Amino acid sequence: MNSPIILALDTKDPSQARNWIKISRPLINHFKIGLEYFLLNGKESVVALQKEFDFELFLDLKLYDIPNTVKGAVESVASLNPKFLTVHAAGGPKMIRAAAEALPGGSIAAVTVLTSFSENEFSSLGYSEDISRTARSWADQAVAAGATSLICSPFEAKQMKGIAPNSTIITPGVRLLGEPANDQNRVMTPKEALSNGADFVVIGRSITSFSGDSEQAMQDKITEIHQSI
Ligand code: C5P
Repeated sequence: MNSPIILALDTKDPSQARNWIKISRPLINHFKIGLEYFLLNGKESVVALQKEFDFELFLDLKLYDIPNTVKGAVESVASLNPKFLTVHAAGGPKMIRAAAEALPGGSIAAVTVLTSFSENEFSSLGYSEDISRTARSWADQAVAAGATSLICSPFEAKQMKGIAPNSTIITPGVRLLGEPANDQNRVMTPKEALSNGADFVVIGRSITSFSGDSEQAMQDKITEIHQSI
């Protein structure tokens, strides 16, 4: 089964994460673990989930530090064999190269400009180019330095695929038609995101909040998304 969905396990609770994987694993094989879960529960908890359910790990740690420190951080999680590990493209090519060298068996996924920035906030930090140009330039440099995946908004996916046709493009910020956008500003449907060049879509609350812990509701939602693609 090759689902383009990466399910975001946005919880602090290991039994909640376990339940979400257990219910959706027949239909989805990529799961995203982020800082909320990882900082509280640690590596051992991820290993336990991996042992119980064989799945592809998207480890969303958004690393950003000097190259040597990032190298050490990547080495510390390399034994989890993440298929994707996120770093900030803003850390620059040397940092990204250090990360890529420390994870030869996985894909360093570069996050370009955070989608939470407005143009005003961004320029007040001292950046001279607008967000879109900056994102393109950072993506370009990240890929040249060894990142093989890019995380971006679905609205940038086409552009990113153009810059880096061999990279895996991953987009959060997707919602089915009629669903609440929550704190996401601009959203596309999974179908639009994929036809815009995304290879994977990260989906959290559309699947997890909607269904509570009802196995049937969650599986129906995933099936609905698969059928909509
Ligand atoms: O619940 P929802 O589908 O909005 O979850 C999206 C996931 O993608 C969350 O884990 C969030 O941290 C992540 N993300 C995002 N927007 C970005 C980058 C990451 O929503 N620009």
